[in-house]
Amino acid sequence: MSSPKIQHDLEIKLGSEYGPEEEQAVIDVIRQGAPTSGEACIQFEQDFAAYCGSEYARVVTNGTAALFLSMIGIGIKPGDRVITTPMTWIATPAAPVTLGAEIDFVDIDPVTYNLDPGQLEAAITPNTKAIIPVHLYGQCCDMDPILEIANQHGIAVIEDACQAVGSQYKGRMAGSMGVTGCFSFHEQKNMSTLGEGGMIVTDDPNVYERIALYRSHCTRVHGRSTKYCQLDESRFPVGKTFWWQDFDDTGYNFRMTDIQAAVGIVQLKKLDELNQRRINNAAYLTEALRDVPGLTLPTVMPECKHSFHLYPVMLDAERFGMNKVDFVYAMLHERGIKLGTHYNPLHWSTAFQQRGYQRGQFPNAEKVGESLVTLPINPRQTPEALDYLVKSIHTFGQ
Ligand SMILES: Cc1ncc(COP(=O)(O)O)c(C=O)c1O
Repeated sequence: MSSPKIQHDLEIKLGSEYGPEEEQAVIDVIRQGAPTSGEACIQFEQDFAAYCGSEYARVVTNGTAALFLSMIGIGIKPGDRVITTPMTWIATPAAPVTLGAEIDFVDIDPVTYNLDPGQLEAAITPNTKAIIPVHLYGQCCDMDPILEIANQHGIAVIEDACQAVGSQYKGRMAGSMGVTGCFSFHEQKNMSTLGEGGMIVTDDPNVYERIALYRSHCTRVHGRSTKYCQLDESRFPVGKTFWWQDFDDTGYNFRMTDIQAAVGIVQLKKLDELNQRRINNAAYLTEALRDVPGLTLPTVMPECKHSFHLYPVMLDAERFGMNKVDFVYAMLHERGIKLGTHYNPLHWSTAFQQRGYQRGQFPNAEKVGESLVTLPINPRQTPEALDYLVKSIHTFGQ
C-alpha cells in the first residue's frame, strides 16, 4: 500500500480544471478591457438559458446571491415562511432568513437524502410562501409531488440546483422546473467560473424583471433599456442629451465580471463531458465497493440523471468496523485521503438552535449527519487515484 502522501500527490497532479480554451477566453476579455456585465455575461446567460431550456437566465456573483435574489423575485418578506431541507448548505435557508422569513425544515427521504415530499403537506401553514427543494449531491428531488403540492397551495418552488448543474428529472433539466432555479459555480462545483459564480434561470418575466433590477441597484444594466430621467433640455442642446439615472428601489450589486462569464461559456460547453466522467467514476466506485460490509452506496433513482457532484456513502459502524469520525480521521492520517462530511443537519447548528430547533426533530437527516461521508469523485481523478481510494476503504472495511 502506498504512503499516506500519495492521494495528496495525485490530487496535485490533477492540475487546474481549466484548459487552454479558458486561458484564451480570459486573455480575449482582458484585451477588451475586462468589463463587468458586458457581452460575455450576456452570451453566458443566453447559452445557460438554452442549456436549461429556460426563457431567461441572469448571471450573479454566487449561488447564495442566486437564492437571495430568487427570494426577492417572489417577494419574500418578514413574517413569510419557507420550507426546505435541513440537509443542505446554510446558504439555502439563509436566503429567506436574511429577508426576515422563518424556516420550516422538513425531513429527508432516507434513500435519496433529498427533501421527502411525503412530509411536505404537514409543514405548510397559511404563511408558507416558498418551498426550496435542494438537489443534493447532484440528484434531483422527486419534483412532481413537490410541484403538485406547491400548486395546490399557491406556493412558489425555488430549486436549489447549486449541486446539480446538468442533472435531470424525467428528462427535465435541474433548475428548469420551479419558478426559478439557482446554480453555483464555486470552485468545487461541477463547472466553475474562476472560484465563484452563480446563475438564476426562470420562465417568469415578472420574476426575471425583479431579479434583474435588484441584482444591480434597481437600475437595468443590459438586455433592457436603463431607466433614466431626461434633464432639462434648455441646458443640454438636442443631440447632446444628458441623462439622469433613476432607481426603482434600493438594491444590491451581485454582478459577475466578463472574465468569469467568458470562462463560464467554455465550462458550459465542457459540462456534459465533465459530468459523464463523474458518472463513470461513480459507476467504478459502486462496482468496486459493492461488497464492503456496512457501506450503503448511492441509489440513482430511475427517473433521474445524477451528475454526482459528490458520492455519498452511509456507514453502518458496527458492520463496517469503524464509525464515521474514526473513518474520516484514519483515511486522512493513514491514507492521505480527505473525505467530505456534507453535511451536519442544519437544525443542529447554533443559527437554528437559536431559532428554536432541537436535536431529534428530523431523524433521517440526523442519521445522515452521524453516518454519511462523501468520497472524492473529481472528473480529473485518475484511475490510479480511484484505485488507491478503493483499496484504502477495503483496508478499513471488515
Ligand atoms: C446546496 C447549496 N446551496 C447553495 C450554495 C451556495 O453557493 P455559493 O457557494 O456559490 O454561494 C451551495 C454551495 O456550496 C450549495 O451546495
